Amino acid sequence: MMEISFRKADRLKDHPDESSLGFGTRFTDYMFIMDYNPEKGWHAARIEPYGPMEMEPSTMVLHYGQAIFEGMKAYRTASGAIQLFRPEENLKRLNRSGQRLCMPALDEKFVLQALTELLKIEKSWVPGAPGTSLYIRPTIIATDPYIGLRASHTYRFFIILSPVGAYYPEGFNPVKIWVTSQYVRAVRGGVGEAKTAGNYAASLYATELAHKEGYTQVMWLDGVELKYIEEVGSMNIFFKLGDELVTPMLNGSILSGVTRDSVISLAESWGTKVTQRKISIDEIYAAHARGELKEVFGSGTAAVISPVGHIKYDGREITIGDGGVGPISARLFKELMDIQYGRAADPFGWVMPLE
Ligand code: COI
Repeated sequence: MMEISFRKADRLKDHPDESSLGFGTRFTDYMFIMDYNPEKGWHAARIEPYGPMEMEPSTMVLHYGQAIFEGMKAYRTASGAIQLFRPEENLKRLNRSGQRLCMPALDEKFVLQALTELLKIEKSWVPGAPGTSLYIRPTIIATDPYIGLRASHTYRFFIILSPVGAYYPEGFNPVKIWVTSQYVRAVRGGVGEAKTAGNYAASLYATELAHKEGYTQVMWLDGVELKYIEEVGSMNIFFKLGDELVTPMLNGSILSGVTRDSVISLAESWGTKVTQRKISIDEIYAAHARGELKEVFGSGTAAVISPVGHIKYDGREITIGDGGVGPISARLFKELMDIQYGRAADPFGWVMPLE
């Protein structure tokens, strides 16, 4: 495997107060970087102090958005050990996103080793307060200084780390969701299933409109008929219809969430029927009218499980259950976190201890 060089920081930062971390504002002392060019492949693997990266204004990623990323977390257990949750899945997805964005593949084993080395150096940054973790953001950007349109020939891969608390200011309290029938985040044949910067840029305007209306997040409908539910905010979405859990099937424009997949396995292990299929927003409203819509929640690495209390579509707002946290959302949240924080057995083999 490639050698990883290390450049020591002159001074280390103070650690933030764990009780008020919020999400994504603080970064640790070090980052991992490596570069790609066609002659050398991925090379110059290094861990160096976290800080600004110099680049020319013509750098391709700044113009055409050829960028992909991942989100994963390191958790501190009660005994002080550190563990990751299904990191191989995120690295596989990073490579799938890279293929869609014309980027060179990474050696997943090497990246996991590099991440492990970085985390060993940054161990003290994994917070231990309830609900906190160290968010891990692996990213690849196109680095050719060139403003014609084509895939870049050179790339940079980096991993940065951020101690985090809850993603939403609401924490685990239910969010209010606004369904847009005007804007979409992804289209058939587009890049919806890739974790690429443009999908998130595409989501901003409708999200601002939702905020103006007093809603937390947008529910996205499909880009073809504006009829079938795809995602919510930056999460996958689940509905409890009667006794069954249903979630939109992966169709190319939906992100294949690692938490989504974990929710499906966990719920199935309880004997709950989970179905992946097309779900129209009209079906959800009809189920609500019949009293069969029991719960709605989003799933993602950052928020884990995010219960939905209200949905507004086409001028009509519905309240899910009593607008509070439903029993399935609560159980999933607890059992997922228990596995992630090492409080429960790990029957699925999802956890990777740091050493
Ligand atoms: C995650 O859930 O980890 C994501 O990548 C979403 C991001 C917008 C924070």
